[in-house]
Amino acid sequence: MNNFTYYNPTKIYFGRDTIKNIGREMRERGVKKALLVCGRQSIFSTGVYDQVSSSLIGWYVDFIRFSGVQPNPLLSKVEDGIRLARQEGVDAILAVGGGSVFDSAKVIAAGVEYEGPVWDLFTGQARIKSALPLFGVLTLSATGSEMNGSAVITKADEKKKWGIVSRHLYPRVSIIDPSVQAWLTKRDTVNGAVDILSHVFELYFDGSKSGELMQEYSEAIIRTVIKNIKILLENPADYEARAQMAWAATLALNNSNAAGRSGGDWATHDIEHSISAFYDVAHGAGLAVITPAWMCYVYREDLHTFARFAQKIFGINSGTVEEQAQEGIRQLREFFREIGAPLSLQDLGVEYQDLENMAENAVQARTLGRLKPLQRDDVLAIYQLAWDQQGLNKRECDSYD
Ligand code: NZQ
Ligand code: ZN
Repeated sequence: MNNFTYYNPTKIYFGRDTIKNIGREMRERGVKKALLVCGRQSIFSTGVYDQVSSSLIGWYVDFIRFSGVQPNPLLSKVEDGIRLARQEGVDAILAVGGGSVFDSAKVIAAGVEYEGPVWDLFTGQARIKSALPLFGVLTLSATGSEMNGSAVITKADEKKKWGIVSRHLYPRVSIIDPSVQAWLTKRDTVNGAVDILSHVFELYFDGSKSGELMQEYSEAIIRTVIKNIKILLENPADYEARAQMAWAATLALNNSNAAGRSGGDWATHDIEHSISAFYDVAHGAGLAVITPAWMCYVYREDLHTFARFAQKIFGINSGTVEEQAQEGIRQLREFFREIGAPLSLQDLGVEYQDLENMAENAVQARTLGRLKPLQRDDVLAIYQLAWDQQGLNKRECDSYD
């Protein structure tokens, strides 16, 4: 187990009927006027907006609404939010929505405090030195943004979907009421499940020797997601399943799962972000396609962990270590098929002639990955594997079929 520092300042309220706490929490922290950042319509149809606004009004927290944040949130929208926050003189930002809303709110919070173009904070031109206090009411569990310091934003004109991480971007308080997720579409629920799994995989397969506790912890999250997504596909309003998924999402990316590891691999995420930047594909959908392809490409770098994954998650105990590793990847893809996730870049509408540009785009800032460092040609090979459903079958990964 590596040495580690654990930092997480976010206070969480979890469970039914917890949204009412937001006004008091903000008031007690001295907030007078907040920018309420939200998406397009779901918070109105689910009743979340009414719950939030009545809590704010009840605690005399003034607020101005900034709606219309879309999935794969845009820099231009964030810039509008920064302008409005300054114009209105708000002293806090309140995110009410999913990861896209949280990420936009985080970058607005940092951007208000930074005089130059906010994109400087992504390119490394400038560091985040402060941000307005951030609060959140989560309506979609997937990204972990409710309890971490990360944000991902798309600069559409340059097709750059890039992330930032800062200790200033943790929400002070996040409220997670799983019952409001009952209205999520099947597609958003599946995408969320895949994203949670991917966060665990990025850490689990980073080549570190984190030890038994962290491996078991990751496997518990994986099993929880696999079990509960199936329940939710049958009954989207099953509260206990929503609650299990919601807490799994938070734990998967709130640093607790990173303890003692080497920081994660994150190549799958970076490779996916270029798909979303080119095609505005949902993050979880892109991950479902890239994850098995990435695994196929790299599993030989850490056969034992891939075999352990197969044993612990899918109960595969026969065959050589390599055969077990391969079978684990195949079973994961079967699971994605079973829950209706997309399986190929073609399913996502990606054009074959864009693969080279996407590969260049993915590596423009740095070499990707930790388990196996990936350059442009590696990324291209992974896109080619993911291109059609046959791609993986033709390769060594499934060649024993
Ligand atoms: O716009 P509205 O109408 O609100 O609809 C949203 C949106 O269409 C809908 N929705 C949200 N809550 C709902 C609901 N529909 C019904 N009932 C509810 N309770 O869901 C749709 C998707 O929302 P979005 O916020 O885009 O989804 P998600 O939470 O998956 O966020 C994805 C974004 O987060 C980034 C992704 O790259 C992507 O841009 N990520 C952020 C990370 C982080 N900050 O740590 C890490 C992740 O790996 C990821 O990269
Ligand atoms: Zn993710």
